[in-house]
Amino acid sequence: MTDQSKDKPWGGRFSEATDAFVEAFTASVTFDQKMANQDINGSIAHATMLAEVGVLTHDEKQQIIDGLEEIRQEIAQGNFNWSVSLEDVHMNIEARLTDKIGITGKKLHTGRSRNDQVATDIRLYLREAIDGILSEITRLQTGLVGLAEREADTIMPGFTHLQTAQPVTFGHHMLAWYEMLSRDYERLVDCRKRVNRMPLGSAALAGTTYPINREITAKLLGFEGISENSLDGVSDRDFAIEFVSAGSLIMTHLSRFSEELVLWTSAQFNFIELPDRFCTGSSIMPQKKNPDVPELVRGKTGRVNGNLIALLTLMKGQPLAYNKDNQEDKEPLFDTIETVYDCLRAYGDMIPAIEVNHDSMREAALRGFSTATDLADYLVKKGVAFRDSHEVVGKAVRYGLDINKDLAEMSLEELQGFSDVIETSVFDVLTLEGSVNARDHLGGTAPAQVKAATVRARKVLQAREL
Ligand code: ARG
Repeated sequence: MTDQSKDKPWGGRFSEATDAFVEAFTASVTFDQKMANQDINGSIAHATMLAEVGVLTHDEKQQIIDGLEEIRQEIAQGNFNWSVSLEDVHMNIEARLTDKIGITGKKLHTGRSRNDQVATDIRLYLREAIDGILSEITRLQTGLVGLAEREADTIMPGFTHLQTAQPVTFGHHMLAWYEMLSRDYERLVDCRKRVNRMPLGSAALAGTTYPINREITAKLLGFEGISENSLDGVSDRDFAIEFVSAGSLIMTHLSRFSEELVLWTSAQFNFIELPDRFCTGSSIMPQKKNPDVPELVRGKTGRVNGNLIALLTLMKGQPLAYNKDNQEDKEPLFDTIETVYDCLRAYGDMIPAIEVNHDSMREAALRGFSTATDLADYLVKKGVAFRDSHEVVGKAVRYGLDINKDLAEMSLEELQGFSDVIETSVFDVLTLEGSVNARDHLGGTAPAQVKAATVRARKVLQAREL
């Protein structure tokens, strides 16, 4: 046996050293070292449990814990020598522990396998990551609610097909984004329940012959549940797929916000201003101020969707139980965590800093006959059938287009030319304020409704902090 294969914790049955390229090819330590803290926490809990059931002595347990805490410090201080020939974070830490405390270090792996160890580490890592993402969602939603309160009365054109449809309030528009994020929040809270189940104790695939007590370990690690089948425990990656799928929806939502911000900051819309600190210039066109943050967030949606497909494909057709394929779960998962977190963070900083160009929005809302539906509704309330009133208003719009006048700019006589039921009161509904104020019901765009919705939203956000 060569020296090299002797170094491997599994080297016993091997008669030649691992090919150098294969060693690097199969190693995961370059990316799974991110889970070092979780790996140490899992090992400490495992050793504590082993001591409680009498598999380790109290003294052995203490040596293991002290050694692992020293290793935690070495890693935190950048003094840890990660070795590719030790394959992954688990074997690197275990080998270092044995360096430090000798034979007792070799006892840590009693009654467990890297298969249940890695499954536990990822869940611990993801649980923490979800908590970080949840607080960024809350921060962004708080920013949106603040903006909605500030701009509850601000009028802008609402669009369907990106054509002017009806006037809406800017606050109402911000709260539409808030709603999307509320669903994202709920999805992650739900996903977290399934992340927070402990596979440790499944061992390699069939469980272990030692008298382990999984309740003790689960309690120490803060797991809410314990996986009930060892084969499933080591091989299940549903929780990662669910998370990335929730992440894809977050990115889908952020990409939609992004698209609107890109449009709104253009000279053609000129609805809002993003502070300079969130934008960059052009090296050739001196006038440019580019909305890089929204564009990049929109672009990053692609990689998260790619990660989702990668994970789904990784798991497709895998036989039970653990397969090395599963090592490929980490990079898409970590990339999703970081991308989603960073995008939410950028948005959380940027959204409260949006400056609104009230005049441009108003002017845009006054163009494009945004109160045509209001005129149709007015006629209906005066006894005209809706289809007939639609026809009448269509003719008025056609006339307005020809003479370049909005409905509200026409004289009473001009309007009465289309229907004799029209009276002076028509001007109350043809104004932008009349139009938005009239939509005064739960979910409507009226400023009063926007203000009420922000009050409800504040309560929801505050309750999360408890
Ligand atoms: N590095 C491996 C992974 O990420 C750890 C588990 C390895 N288990 C094994 N039997 N080779 O999945």
